[in-house]
Amino acid sequence: MKIVLIGYMGSGKTSVGKQLSTALNYKFIDLDAQIELSEGMSVSKIFSERGEIYFRRKENEIIKNLILSEENMVLATGGGTPCYGDITNFLASKGNVITIYLKTTLDILTNRLMLEKNKRPLISHLNNEVSLKDFVRKHLFERSYYYNQAQLGLDTDRISVEEIVETIVAKLF
Ligand code: ADP
Ligand code: S3P
Repeated sequence: MKIVLIGYMGSGKTSVGKQLSTALNYKFIDLDAQIELSEGMSVSKIFSERGEIYFRRKENEIIKNLILSEENMVLATGGGTPCYGDITNFLASKGNVITIYLKTTLDILTNRLMLEKNKRPLISHLNNEVSLKDFVRKHLFERSYYYNQAQLGLDTDRISVEEIVETIVAKLF
């Protein structure tokens, strides 16, 4: 079984994924970390040196290889992963994949991302809260079409990581 967490940057995919994998005794894989390992450089450096299209191509290849592997895993994707190429359809076509959308509202995403935007190349240039919020509002709206195709959607505002994990476990098993 592959439990694939999707959602906007800052929605908690990595934090929830780590704890969920411990709760289920599944392997945890962070897709960005796998891309960094495979390319030998940070996501920010891949964007600045090779460009976003190159990053999306690698992201597509690496997620497919992971999904086609035998192991049980919790996979934290990047915020853009399901929105490019054939990934959403690919995930939907696999019987051993459960996709979960971590839904987080604009205000909370903006607050979190304001503190952590430097390692995220798509937003690192936005240097005040108003411009970050305007960007996230539009971007989240454009991406919601893909996120909403997940098999399970969970509201995560004001819910702790532990509670989100408990909710997922209760819904899946
Ligand atoms: P993603 O992997 O989706 O980009 P992260 O797991 O890195 O998101 O979380 C972004 C930030 O938000 C981190 O500082 C994390 O501690 C915090 N965070 C994530 N989920 C929650 C939550 N449910 N409640 C409070 N803070 C959270
Ligand atoms: C991206 C999100 C990032 C990372 C890259 C692009 C996006 O992952 O994959 O910076 O397109 O939303 P996180 O969602 O873990 O920040």
